[in-house]
Amino acid sequence: MDPIALLKADHRKVEELFKKLEDTTERAVKTRTELFEKLRMELTVHALAEEAVLYPENKEIPSTRELGFEAVEEHHVVKILLDELSELSPDTEEWTAKLSVLKENVQHHVKEEEGEIFPKTKKALSAEELDEMGARLFEEKEKLLGHMPA
Ligand SMILES: [Fe+2]
Ligand SMILES: [Fe+2]
Repeated sequence: MDPIALLKADHRKVEELFKKLEDTTERAVKTRTELFEKLRMELTVHALAEEAVLYPENKEIPSTRELGFEAVEEHHVVKILLDELSELSPDTEEWTAKLSVLKENVQHHVKEEEGEIFPKTKKALSAEELDEMGARLFEEKEKLLGHMPA
């Protein structure tokens, strides 16, 4: 299984959810709440899978070591923003502003992954190692999804 394709597909799904959320206003509380819960679940499962499978590998590869450490910290900021958003009411301008900051953070992070981490990881690992990483990512995601509240 191609780990890069799997992770990129997650990124596209998250972008789609951000786009849908951007089309909502403070009045659309129900839609916002539903879309946000989806976004939160997607981002959480994706981030935890990367932290369990991809970044530990990145820390072993000299060309991605620093990027791997940085990525973990970027996930940390995203998690804080997601937690804060869940505590706020989606019918406020504060929520709208925080969502926009979350989006900027995620966009920056995705750009670094797709522009640097993924290509460098691909270059450093053999086809067999990549295949194995893809399988582990898939398994990890399945396991995490099983633990997520519906
Ligand atoms: Fe990430
Ligand atoms: Fe990612």
